[in-house]
Amino acid sequence: MSCTEGRSNLVENDQERTVTMRVDRPTEDDWQRVRSIRLRALADAPDAFARTFAEEAAFAEADWRKRLSSGSTTFIAVEDDADVGMVTGAGRRDNPGTAGLYGMWVAPGNRRNGVALGLVRAVVDWARSNGFSEVALHVADQNSAAIQLYEQMGFAPTGGISTLPPPREHITEHERSLSLGETICDATIA
Ligand SMILES: CC(C)(COP(=O)(O)OP(=O)(O)OC[C@H]1O[C@@H](n2cnc3c(N)ncnc32)[C@H](O)[C@@H]1OP(=O)(O)O)[C@@H](O)C(=O)NCCC(=O)NCCS
Repeated sequence: MSCTEGRSNLVENDQERTVTMRVDRPTEDDWQRVRSIRLRALADAPDAFARTFAEEAAFAEADWRKRLSSGSTTFIAVEDDADVGMVTGAGRRDNPGTAGLYGMWVAPGNRRNGVALGLVRAVVDWARSNGFSEVALHVADQNSAAIQLYEQMGFAPTGGISTLPPPREHITEHERSLSLGETICDATIA
């Protein structure tokens, strides 16, 4: 892979943290592991995600395998051999140069320890090395923790607004994006 990176707006300000975590990239054969942590996320923070626990608990093995093999890349944060967080990056159909950041979640007992910072960085690195020019996400207007996280990392509001699907259309979201600067890269999406 050859990739020449330009300047990024990503804010790197967690150098004093002492988190010892690794970030795994599960394959479709790891679908049960992904299912487990994703259902934990949906049960814990239902208003942070468009899909519901009931919808995804009903997914078949084929659904999980498809999700993990369809151009998106999921990252799982591991601390002390336990899966403690996840996030997914995927190219946006509505904007080919933009990577979407989806499904960010950190287990309650592992929060405020830099895990989300590491997961965002994993998506940004993946997006940059796959030639995307920006990373974008949607966050609920009431989700002050997540807004603070993205703000701290340099994700700025784009002006885009949306709501969760019915019956949770009362939960409003806004879009934020991070410019990756000029990135010239010949890699295809992993
Ligand atoms: C939002 C979430 C992912 C943050 O994960 P985390 O691992 O605790 O975040 P980090 O420890 O990496 O925190 C990084 C920064 O985010 C901000 N932040 C995180 N949690 C915060 C909180 N509860 N209140 C205010 N700011 C917070 C802070 O700026 C923090 O930096 P600091 O610790 O130096 O102040 C986590 O709370 C979570 O999973 N929430 C439920 C699901 C969710 O809301 N997902 C986001 C969907 S868009």
